[in-house]
Amino acid sequence: MIKKYIYGNPFPTEAVVKEIKVSEDKMPFFETDGRGRFTFNLAEHDIVYGLGEQIRGINKRGWQYVSWNYDNPNHHEDTRSLYGAHNFIIVSGKETFGAFFDCAGKIEFDIGYTQRSEMKITAAGNDLSVYIITGENEKDIVKQFRNIIGRSYVPPLWAFGYGQSRWGYRNEDDIREVAKQYKAAGIPIDSIYLDIDYMERYKDFTVDSERFPDLKKLADDMKTQGIHLVPIIDAGVKIEEGYDVYEEGVQHNYFCKNAEGEDFVGAVWPGRVHFPDFLQPEARKWFGRKYSVLTDMGIEGFWNDMNEPAIFYTEDRLADTCAEIEKLTSGNMGINEYFTFTGMVAGLNGNTGDYDKFYHNINGKMVKHSDVHNLYGMNMTRSAFEALQEICPEKRTLFFSRSSYIGAHRYGGIWQGDNKSWWSHILQSMQQLPALNMAGFLFTGSDTGGFGCDVTEDLMLRWLQYSLFTPLFRNHSADGTRRQELYRFDNVSAAAEMIKIRYSLIPYLYSEYLKAVLNDEMMFKPLAFDFSDDDMAKQVEDQLLLGNELMIAPVYKQNARGRYVYLPEEMMMVRMKSRNDFQTQILEKGHHYINSELDELVFFIRNKKAIPFDRTAESTENTDISQPELLGYPDSSYVMYSDNGISPKPEDSLKVTALH
Ligand code: GLC
Repeated sequence: MIKKYIYGNPFPTEAVVKEIKVSEDKMPFFETDGRGRFTFNLAEHDIVYGLGEQIRGINKRGWQYVSWNYDNPNHHEDTRSLYGAHNFIIVSGKETFGAFFDCAGKIEFDIGYTQRSEMKITAAGNDLSVYIITGENEKDIVKQFRNIIGRSYVPPLWAFGYGQSRWGYRNEDDIREVAKQYKAAGIPIDSIYLDIDYMERYKDFTVDSERFPDLKKLADDMKTQGIHLVPIIDAGVKIEEGYDVYEEGVQHNYFCKNAEGEDFVGAVWPGRVHFPDFLQPEARKWFGRKYSVLTDMGIEGFWNDMNEPAIFYTEDRLADTCAEIEKLTSGNMGINEYFTFTGMVAGLNGNTGDYDKFYHNINGKMVKHSDVHNLYGMNMTRSAFEALQEICPEKRTLFFSRSSYIGAHRYGGIWQGDNKSWWSHILQSMQQLPALNMAGFLFTGSDTGGFGCDVTEDLMLRWLQYSLFTPLFRNHSADGTRRQELYRFDNVSAAAEMIKIRYSLIPYLYSEYLKAVLNDEMMFKPLAFDFSDDDMAKQVEDQLLLGNELMIAPVYKQNARGRYVYLPEEMMMVRMKSRNDFQTQILEKGHHYINSELDELVFFIRNKKAIPFDRTAESTENTDISQPELLGYPDSSYVMYSDNGISPKPEDSLKVTALH
């Protein structure tokens, strides 16, 4: 059952697409002051799931989280905000219920942080809708929630292949070289990503004619090798006379305005930019149609970036900061002045005050950006998705975004933002998966190998052994860091085998993905969602159920040659060095120490189940997913969902096959 409550005058976020009557009764579970504050008393062993892309564990209890979409590549345990705002939680324990705090601005979740036994939720404004969901269990609550927020996005099948990305591929030769090396090393690959360097001076919808003289030909040549090029599109539009996107945006008032009614200026990669007002339907349409510049060159996928929106600095704040710094440095700079100085410089990037300084035009009314901040990224992806449905109505386009709000899951996927080549970021990514699935985000994954910092070979292998299970499987790294294309490592064959295993798993991953979309289910679940009476399962923070047949328990610690795994039931352990070199062993319910050498993938098939396991392929183009073999318990069967991989509505070509 779903109940809706309204406080103040909430901005229509469009997260919920089903009509729900507003309840007249008192909101259950929470005490509220009616002005954006909600309190709930947590029982000793209550668990709180959710919040999508956030830091810390699967159980969110014991920290304070702030939904405020924020560019934070340096995130760690102390962080409070990340790239997405996914305000859906499930309290599980003495009382079990779901709650969605639908609020376009900032909202804080103190989940037993100030006081261990209290959960306090505080919306910065008084304007929000709250949905309270009760049901049979956590899965039922998720299903009801997913039903009201609309069906999740389905990417083309090729997006389940492996992708290589790096910020720093400067020209066409760099791209051709990556493709060549992957082919030479025999590593399957489906996509190569184009970061900002393909553009002319970082201008959206332009291609640098010196470095990429013929992008169409490059895209065609790549396609003959089964490789798709996926360019980046940033939110900020460069201010430059003669640049059509800039000029049209100014002319039609498609950019966000400052308090004086002028186009607001921020600085991001291109330098001074204006931000398209994606909350205006007309601006969304206009920007979305621009993607045809690239689809005309044969491009079939995009990643949308910097759309929190990230602001490196604003000119006013920079000028004020410089003036202050001049004062500080004119005398003898002591230690206190030094810290003031470094704090002021660090405070320029993503300064919350800057988000109070610009406005959206909503039906002629100026709405302050900070009141609707968390909707910006979602509406950028919506702009692309809706336009591309008109531009290429016959097929799916790959989309994923950095910033998001619930609702964006209908238009595209998300990647989990900038991370680091840190062991802890493997675990962090894994812990976000079930919470993202709860909020509808199914097409997701992390920058495999880590974006910032320097990777090592062992970290990469372990990361691959985790990421090869995530729908989005992309190796991405930052300019200036150690190179991490897989062919550069000593043990290339170990990495290659992991990628080949991924391709053998695609029939299962894709089938479970389609089931999760079509049935409003989660692809990745905490163990306790299926083993609700098992107290041990409730405490497991580093294993996940994948679909209905698998459990994954990746190794994510430096120099570890194995790990403890908890089995909530009897399972079949699969230890695999390559597609055709593997052993299986039945293990009983309970705790086990599982060895796993660096070149071994270990995963678990649930009791009496089996998964489709295909031959491997060089790219999804030559995978035949129609009749894969079964891997698992003898005499078991599997119901496989598949489709043609491109039809905009998967049900138009859906095939349900019983495999024995
Ligand atoms: C941002 C993105 C990252 C990209 C970089 C350059 O940091 O999150 O993925 O490589 O910008 O475009």
